[in-house]
Amino acid sequence: MKIFIDTANIEEINTANEWGVVDGVTTNPTLVAKEGKDLRALINEILGIVDGPISVEVISTDSEGMIKEALEMSNWSENIVVKIPMIPEGLKAVKILNENDVKTNVTLVFSVNQALLAAKAGATYVSPFIGRLDDIGHDGMQIIHDLMQIYNLYDFKTEIIVASIRHPLHVIESAKAGAHVATIPFGVIEKMFKHPLTDIGLEKFLKDWEKSKK
Ligand code: G3P
Repeated sequence: MKIFIDTANIEEINTANEWGVVDGVTTNPTLVAKEGKDLRALINEILGIVDGPISVEVISTDSEGMIKEALEMSNWSENIVVKIPMIPEGLKAVKILNENDVKTNVTLVFSVNQALLAAKAGATYVSPFIGRLDDIGHDGMQIIHDLMQIYNLYDFKTEIIVASIRHPLHVIESAKAGAHVATIPFGVIEKMFKHPLTDIGLEKFLKDWEKSKK
């Protein structure tokens, strides 16, 4: 399973990239707005750190506007993936962008049917938001299981990005489901490192080593 980092914060991207665990980056308008930087300049910085797919979202809600934004963004680098919202105008744009070799990530996906339509339209990636579904009492991960089955049955090339991940268990479940990608916030990647026995064990090794030198 590929790991993308779900942030637009340069420090977080740099740190996780140095750990050697980052295959790509996903951003959204909320994450970009938090950084208070010019979009193009920010994405250029990210492109300079991570050599992998970098998702950037359009702001337009009509297909013409989305296509215009997407064509411009895709010129920034071949690593750019354009995030398109899961609405009819969005899929209209995805179809045309796919025909023009522009990679897309259909976002704000909350159901299996939405993801099925996105794949039919030619999306490169589809992003079901599992955490936001869990938040309202639905089983977000069930969508990932269902989609893996359906995409495999019909040999869809669309890759599933498990998005809106809230905790390390979501990551384990994504990997067990065979998801192509999990896009993970920095704080959750940090938690994935943690085990008290690792810390206790390391402390003991170092103490014993010091003792042996006395
Ligand atoms: O980037 C899309 C998604 O991962 C957002 O997550 O935490 O805002 O539901 P969240």
